[in-house]
Amino acid sequence: MYRCLLLLLACLVRIESSREPAAEQLWKYLENESKESTLTSSGGNPVADKTNVLTAGERGPLLVQDLIYFDEIQHFDRERIPERVVHAKGAGAFGYFVVTQDIRPYTKATMFHPIGKKTPMVARFSTVIGERGSADTARDPRGFALKFYTEDGIWDMVGNNTPIFFVRDPLTFIAFIHSQKRNPVTNLKDFDTFWDFITLRPETTFQVMRHFSDLGTPDGFRHMNGYGSNTYKLVNEEGTPVYCKFHFLTDQGIRNLTAEVAARLEGEDPDYATRDLYNHIATNKFPSWTMYIQVMTFEEAEVFRWNPFDVTKVWPETEFPLIEVGKMVLDRNPTNYFADIEQVGFTPSNMVPGIEPSPDKMLQGRLFAYTDTHYHRIGTNHKQLPVNNPFRSQVVNTLRDGHMTYTDNQGGAPNYFPSSFSKRSGCANAEWSRFSIVGDVARYNSSDEDNFSQPAMFWRDELTEYDREALVTNMANHLSNAAPIFQERMVKNVYMVDTRFGQMLHTALLKLGPKH
Ligand code: HEM
Ligand SMILES: *[C@@H]1O[C@H](CO)[C@@H](O)[C@H](O)[C@H]1NC(C)=O
Ligand SMILES: *[C@@H]1O[C@H](CO)[C@@H](O)[C@H](O)[C@H]1NC(C)=O
Ligand SMILES: *[C@@H]1O[C@H](CO)[C@@H](O)[C@H](O)[C@H]1NC(C)=O
Ligand SMILES: *[C@@H]1O[C@H](CO)[C@@H](O)[C@H](O)[C@H]1NC(C)=O
Repeated sequence: MYRCLLLLLACLVRIESSREPAAEQLWKYLENESKESTLTSSGGNPVADKTNVLTAGERGPLLVQDLIYFDEIQHFDRERIPERVVHAKGAGAFGYFVVTQDIRPYTKATMFHPIGKKTPMVARFSTVIGERGSADTARDPRGFALKFYTEDGIWDMVGNNTPIFFVRDPLTFIAFIHSQKRNPVTNLKDFDTFWDFITLRPETTFQVMRHFSDLGTPDGFRHMNGYGSNTYKLVNEEGTPVYCKFHFLTDQGIRNLTAEVAARLEGEDPDYATRDLYNHIATNKFPSWTMYIQVMTFEEAEVFRWNPFDVTKVWPETEFPLIEVGKMVLDRNPTNYFADIEQVGFTPSNMVPGIEPSPDKMLQGRLFAYTDTHYHRIGTNHKQLPVNNPFRSQVVNTLRDGHMTYTDNQGGAPNYFPSSFSKRSGCANAEWSRFSIVGDVARYNSSDEDNFSQPAMFWRDELTEYDREALVTNMANHLSNAAPIFQERMVKNVYMVDTRFGQMLHTALLKLGPKH
């Protein structure tokens, strides 16, 4: 009876309002729930009453034998897993990748041929600095993480919506992130620490310019590009390696929010981008991105006027044109956010034959970091979880046991190699390409790399006058909160990019006046 009423109500709601799909989720579930079911404990035992605790007398104390209450509260007490140390707030969806161009001259990776081949995938988009409950519209890079379930296991393309990054050495990444996280004493974001770090490391200038342009506040996750940012290596059937960068350009077109709109949404709809993604997929308006690669031969890398492994720099598309590869389409919302998206673990170390790391120091630093944090954040056997599981290839190794072993733990197969009890062997195709290195082991100072010529090109050739003014205003509004010494340093750095940029920032800061 109750159920019928609810169903009737569900129909009324559907007729009377055209609410967004996200608001309809439970009503849809209800419509679909066909069979009556009995409430149970987590052991599957039927329970009689889930609303009244067991007490000694009507007004007496609670009993330790209230197994129903303890079953509920003990699990509830453990509901949260650690949030991601960076990229904690995000949204994701499932979809597929389809090949449109043959890139076999560059890579033997099986997911890229033949034309028309489809590979299932999951994507997660995120902000970087804020906690899990923070606003989607914050000024921040956006994570652009893709997991492809290929026949050769998982390939993760863990990128951002920016082709470059702030710093070029993984040791400075940790400091860079800390400078934007909460001050350990005040527990507040600290303008001084951010601008102190930024101005001490002029290599950040290019990314900081993108950050404070309107590109720093994309309009949701559908209207932004994705980039591998780091330099990778592709290897073809003949074993010939080339260096490569990955690009995923949005088919929806780039759209940014102005600082005003982004700030308003932070208050009114902090989950703006999550909602936008969910509702578009739920109404069959599937977002898509076209994948391209840029390719650089080893010979070209030798004579390139910048360090091709410096992630603070782009490879100009005029010299290294985009080569189309295929399209990725997101067509399915997660069935459960925690199971599918909170528990997903992306790592640049998930690689398939045909894709290899380059000597890019930041990439090298990342190869270790992600699985390490997954052991902490999700658990030893996180790769067994459905969303992380390389379900299209069988896992054959000597790893066993650990918390929450969910599979048959590879049954009776030997847990050591080599072994006379198996017919296992390595696969020559999976051998990485060889390269030779000559040099001294040392901590090389990357400071003498050119910091300002690409920012200057960005300022002159890519930004319109409107974009430049927005960039200066957004930067000045933020920077004016920092101590004068950091403002002076930043103006100095920006003068190195372009004299007019320096003058504009200086004038804007004078106008805003001291905030101290
Ligand atoms: C040395 C530099 C870097 C280190 C050590 C590092 C480390 C990390 C760590 C520890 C996480 C949390 C992962 C998790 O909890 O699942 C993370 C997340 C992430 N990082 Fe990095 N990161 C670095 C640079 C970068 C760069 C350059 C990019 C983009 C090109 C990037 C993109 C991402 C993305 C997209 C996520 C979120 C993945 C997700 O959605 O689950 N990171 N990073
Ligand atoms: C409805 O039920 C079908 C069959 O069990 C299932 O595949 C589908 O995902 C359900 N839809 C919803 C919205 O729960
Ligand atoms: C380039 O930036 C690095 C750190 O980011 C710094 O140590 C170096 O002095 C800078 N070089 C120039 C020429 O500004
Ligand atoms: C690296 O070089 C820069 C610029 O020459 C210098 O200021 C800095 O002290 C050097 N850092 C180290 C760790 O040697
Ligand atoms: C987004 O911002 C960038 C940088 O300011 C600008 O070049 C681009 O034209 C903007 N796009 C839109 C659609 O606003």
